[in-house]
Amino acid sequence: MLPEENGTEEMNMFELKLSDFLLSDTVRALHASINEEWDSLQLSACQTAAGRALWKHIIHDPVADILAGEKYLRNLHEKIKKDKLSNAREISGVILAVRTLWFDSNIESALNSFNCGENQVVLLGAGMDARTYRLSCLKESNVFEVDFPKLLQMKATLLQAAAGFNNENQKLTLKAKSVTRVAADIRDDDWLEKLQKSGFIPGRKTVWVLEGILYYLSHIDAVQVLKTIAADCTLTHTVLLADFMNKSSTTLSHSTFHFYSDWPDHLLPTLGFSDVKVSQIGDPDAHFGLMHDPLNLFNRLRNLPRSIQTHPDDGTPCCRLYLVKASGFPQQTIP
Ligand SMILES: C[S@@+](CC[C@H](N)C(=O)[O-])C[C@H]1O[C@@H](n2cnc3c(N)ncnc32)[C@H](O)[C@@H]1O
Repeated sequence: MLPEENGTEEMNMFELKLSDFLLSDTVRALHASINEEWDSLQLSACQTAAGRALWKHIIHDPVADILAGEKYLRNLHEKIKKDKLSNAREISGVILAVRTLWFDSNIESALNSFNCGENQVVLLGAGMDARTYRLSCLKESNVFEVDFPKLLQMKATLLQAAAGFNNENQKLTLKAKSVTRVAADIRDDDWLEKLQKSGFIPGRKTVWVLEGILYYLSHIDAVQVLKTIAADCTLTHTVLLADFMNKSSTTLSHSTFHFYSDWPDHLLPTLGFSDVKVSQIGDPDAHFGLMHDPLNLFNRLRNLPRSIQTHPDDGTPCCRLYLVKASGFPQQTIP
């Protein structure tokens, strides 16, 4: 396989260069407290940021490395190096790179579909996502980041430190119109109320971004969150962007993953969404030039009907990640 088939041509596989700022006492101390105090759910935010930092030739995230921290960068770098040396068909992190780019491009097209006017973008389980510093398509958007209080507090501290760091080459500039961090647990009944108290306006065109979050919730909680968003759809044009695991994917870690849907295109209309479009990693709108090898895991899966749970060639579970876009519009009342 050619190196560029995995999109790794610009990635120096054998040396991990960490910035002086990342290695400074301040940032190291902050990440030491993260590693001591956070649970695995919250730490998944740093792992995600590490993926974006190490696929930086594809995802231009100015703060992903600072938000990820040294430990997760080193761990993932080791995995990528091993994959590279063994000529693996899938390089660690590629799924995250594709997923990130899919959300980026769908956020942009959803905002374009609103045809100007005031709009909002809500990142549920925002973690260490730095889209507000990455995406210029957010320049007219009020962005709300919802996550646990201690995660959002730490994110703000790290970003403040990064902004204060004297690096003229990499000035940290907010690209969104505004960003508001909303501390809430989306399993609780009051998260929407907290969002509204923070300035979210029901009835204003909204893109809801649920990236890497639904499968950490129980079935009941995930469906309730989706229903709450669907209720907002009755007021205005709304776009939901979310990734769903199928049932087999949750077997990768029974203790971590709970909610799944093999058929989000059937589920979402029952909750109040319309125009549901389901993509899989490797599909024409979800490969971004990173999935050329027809024999890689994702392309092999795409060629099998979605109802098949076990791969006929080797008996392995068909672990799929669905990238889903759905819309909601107010009901047209007939005069
Ligand atoms: C895998 S990370 C993904 C973060 C972010 N969406 C991204 O793509 O970078 C999952 C995030 O969901 C957050 N999360 C999980 N359960 C949550 C809950 N019940 N309420 C609020 N946030 C939650 C975690 O704290 C973590 O930041």
